[in-house]
Amino acid sequence: MSGPVPELADRAARCAEAVMNADEVVVASHIDADGLTSAAVATETLKRCEIPHQVVFRKQLDGEGIKQISELGADTVLFTDFGSGQLRDIKKYAKDAFTPVVVDHHQPVDVEIQYHLNPLLEGIDGAAELSGAGTTYVLSRALEDSEGANKDLAALAIVGAIGDRQLTNGTLTGANTAIVEEGVQTGVLKTQTDLSLYGKQTRELPDLLAYAGDIRIPGITGDRNGTVQFLDGLDIEVRSDESWKRWVDLSESSKKTLASALIQKAMTKGISTQKIDQLIGESYILSTEQEGTELRDASEFSTLLNATARYERADVGLAVCLGDRDKAYEKSQRLLRNHRRNLSEGVTWVENTGVERENQCQWFHAQDNIKETIVGIVAGMALGVEGVSRDRPIIAFANKTDDTVKVSARATSELTGKGVDLSEVMYEAANAVEGEGGGHTIAAGATIPSGTEETFLDVVERTLKRQREE
Ligand code: C5P
Ligand code: C5P
Ligand code: ZN
Repeated sequence: MSGPVPELADRAARCAEAVMNADEVVVASHIDADGLTSAAVATETLKRCEIPHQVVFRKQLDGEGIKQISELGADTVLFTDFGSGQLRDIKKYAKDAFTPVVVDHHQPVDVEIQYHLNPLLEGIDGAAELSGAGTTYVLSRALEDSEGANKDLAALAIVGAIGDRQLTNGTLTGANTAIVEEGVQTGVLKTQTDLSLYGKQTRELPDLLAYAGDIRIPGITGDRNGTVQFLDGLDIEVRSDESWKRWVDLSESSKKTLASALIQKAMTKGISTQKIDQLIGESYILSTEQEGTELRDASEFSTLLNATARYERADVGLAVCLGDRDKAYEKSQRLLRNHRRNLSEGVTWVENTGVERENQCQWFHAQDNIKETIVGIVAGMALGVEGVSRDRPIIAFANKTDDTVKVSARATSELTGKGVDLSEVMYEAANAVEGEGGGHTIAAGATIPSGTEETFLDVVERTLKRQREE
């Protein structure tokens, strides 16, 4: 019984024992798709173990937040998808108040704690190979009452990994693949090599092709009219009656025809084979969900969850994860429409406003024009649009409160391959202005006092320069 990730078996067993000994558990988790699915895996597991529990969500974890959590009075607090970077504060407030169990995949600080499950402690890449939900799944498997009983939760773990953008060249790798296998075995997951465009379950074909790709194809990307012409020129049924079909509505042979035509189009536009390869990738299908719904596709499911939790409605996302297909599900779809509109308005704002280019980074300050909880997603989407190059990290600022500013930083795998580590950049720059920061090499964030942006950027520049030279 070594579980899906043998390297983590000992740590998982120790954490499981701490949880089993609890009278009551507070699950504290992060407000994004990975945090929500982590909380869902944790609560479903605790329910099966018949351990009383409640859940709280936080944008990020700071001293004040941990203090409030300790005041809830549970003897055990299970932190998921954050905590490893906040061990100092956790230790400080835990003392005699509660037993902390930290299940996370973010960069840990150098503090010892008894119950700590994190892939990075065992040499597994927490940014690409195991998510917060995946790590929580490892704990869940260590808590099941009969061998394999919690394997059905693998689907949620994979939604978390996809939400954290853990795909490498279009496919999950490392420890994540072990979880995928368990999900396939239990019949909750299916993988499929397919067009790697976002929205195959729910978007009409013209929107799917024009707005969903990472690769720019002239005449298609950002060009709905061009896309309609392209689709009408194909010898397949792309409409049913008055309306457009979606990808899932196409027959297998129509899918092949469309995919080949798209690749052909990219080739005639001179796009490199390396980029063209990226048009094809692995899809992760939740086989028990209804076809044609967001829930069927891990990628769309994760966006649905971001659309709830980043708008103060984590309760809605959690209910959907736990099986609500009624009121909470309806609400989540309304939130999703709103989220999509905000993202596209955000990217347009960045395109129109432009970014400032420094030697090492580029940045923009959205002030109140982009909500601080989604400015990181917008920054990631903006990398590569007209006027924003992919040759250096992007740093985004947005007002958080009257006297604090949210910072989000995003890079590309090419940049992290050259030594860029945004987690360190955010940590050091935030420290220099008495803020807090951290995250992953490729995506990180911080909260800083308003007015310190310039000093913050100086440290960002200095740290990036040092990383490039090391
Ligand atoms: O806190 P957490 O680890 O869940 O957040 C990861 C964040 O990093 C997500 O918002 C995700 O969109 C972002 N990310 C990214 N590009 C990557 C990896 C992660 O934008 N390649
Ligand atoms: O908020 P954003 O999506 O930009 O966060 C990117 C990553 O940085 C996430 O993994 C988040 O948990 C992490 N982060 C952090 N400390 C902060 C802000 C963000 O560790 N103060
Ligand atoms: Zn995460």
